[in-house]
Amino acid sequence: MSGVKFRVAICGGGIGGLCLAVALSRHPNIKVEVYEAAARFKEIGAGVMIWSRTWEILAHLGLDSNFAEIAHAIPDGSDGVGFDYRKSDQPMEGHRFYLFHRPYGCIRFHRAHFLDVFVDALPDGVAHFGKRLLSYTQNNLHGPLELQFSDNTTARCDILVGCDGIKSIVRKQMLEEKAAKTGQGELLHHIDPVWTGTVIYRGLIPVDRLNNRDGLEHRTAETPMMYCGKSKHVVSYSISRRSIVNVVACTSHPELEGTVACDEPWVVECTQKELLDCYDGWEPEVVDMLKCIEKPTRWVIHHLRPLPTYVSNKVALLGDAAHAMSPHQGAGAGQAIEDAFILAHLLGHQATSLATLPQALLAYEHVRLPLGNHVLRGSYESGVMYEFNGPQTDELQVLGPAIGRQWNWLNETTPVGEAERAVRWLVESLQAAVVEER
Ligand SMILES: Cc1cc2nc3c(=O)[nH]c(=O)nc-3n(C[C@H](O)[C@H](O)[C@H](O)COP(=O)(O)OP(=O)(O)OC[C@H]3O[C@@H](n4cnc5c(N)ncnc54)[C@H](O)[C@@H]3O)c2cc1C
Ligand SMILES: *[C@@H]1O[C@H](CO)[C@@H](O)[C@H](O)[C@H]1NC(C)=O
Ligand SMILES: *[C@@H]1O[C@H](CO)[C@@H](O)[C@H](O)[C@H]1NC(C)=O
Repeated sequence: MSGVKFRVAICGGGIGGLCLAVALSRHPNIKVEVYEAAARFKEIGAGVMIWSRTWEILAHLGLDSNFAEIAHAIPDGSDGVGFDYRKSDQPMEGHRFYLFHRPYGCIRFHRAHFLDVFVDALPDGVAHFGKRLLSYTQNNLHGPLELQFSDNTTARCDILVGCDGIKSIVRKQMLEEKAAKTGQGELLHHIDPVWTGTVIYRGLIPVDRLNNRDGLEHRTAETPMMYCGKSKHVVSYSISRRSIVNVVACTSHPELEGTVACDEPWVVECTQKELLDCYDGWEPEVVDMLKCIEKPTRWVIHHLRPLPTYVSNKVALLGDAAHAMSPHQGAGAGQAIEDAFILAHLLGHQATSLATLPQALLAYEHVRLPLGNHVLRGSYESGVMYEFNGPQTDELQVLGPAIGRQWNWLNETTPVGEAERAVRWLVESLQAAVVEER
């Protein structure tokens, strides 16, 4: 292993773990292994959208032309609709109350295609399947970590990144050990995800089916829509070169946020009747669309209580493991990609060596935790606002611009700027440590 400065183990090969693996594989002196519990990499059949902030990262990784091929349209940077917000919870035709737009608009994909771009960019020999992590041990602070898997095998690494999703086992062990060591029992409240109070119905519709009604094109084939009503809203947008429409229909009990939902499993199939009954009395454009979903699935949406820490010595959390959030700003995958980009930039930097790994992880946390948690909270608050339960209630002239301001984080900083800030923090903290030692 000459020339290798350290070995990174990535637990979980979802969007976050694979993006990290691809970004790290650009550094020949870092050894990367991905341990995935499932028998192969997979995503669910549904849509995923990203904003220009995430596109900047994909371009940086040299993957923009691959992603452009599978987007709803080729992203060209021109101003586009983020979402068209309508008041829709009445039988009469609704009306727009706010139009959110941004350079690039929202860039939409089929999830399976999205993941495949990362899978294809992964070097050979990096992925290991059927490796469900059970625990890790570190006998000495400066030595390697040992990983224990459910197939009775073990592996060694110098740093472990938990990219193992909302029910992360790495988060559980990391917070339990930290709580035991520091006496901060409060940390234990952040292990289990809590219910957001929201349940959603999901489905995909071939655009042809939707358009053929009355021979007119349905508005959502072209424009990402946000149909809003009291304690409910419906999101729809086209993916796969506008051939399919992805629908997410939400219904909420805001007073139940933070409780434990009794529904297990979190995802089940349900009847079309249940979905239609939920939006009975909504404007025809919404009802017509929902009638095209024959076999909806129902999801109980959970999020994390914002974590006070993402790292411990040589273990880090990334993506949903660190900040699983509600989907109302289309940001969970984008934030996972941003974590991966910043962490890879730090690990690849010359200031990061086996000896300075814990400090590099602190730099990652310093930059990523405030924004990750901000988006987690903001995403939840936006969902409340879409359903007229925020401070603005249904005062639509006030509500629209307030919804727009929720997105300010999209362009207040840039990922490249954040990566540079993380490296500055690392270099300065290492210099300060040297001064202290003298
Ligand atoms: C309805 C809905 C809509 C959404 N829409 C959007 C959107 O439009 N835009 C957006 O940016 N985000 C969206 N999100 C959020 C986004 O899907 C997630 O934030 C993102 O997929 C998280 O990726 P991840 O890699 O962190 O976790 P995951 O995708 O959950 O991947 C975790 C991986 O780890 C593996 N694993 C788990 N445990 C272990 C273990 N012990 N050992 C080994 N492997 C393990 C799993 O098998 C899995 O492959 C949405 C979420 C929902 C629920
Ligand atoms: C792992 O080891 C245990 C105890 O030795 C054994 O019962 C189990 O069958 C083993 N599992 C696998 C997958 O080899
Ligand atoms: C962010 O984008 C919006 C819309 O394009 C623009 O009005 C605003 O000035 C931008 N903010 C910053 C800080 O660049």
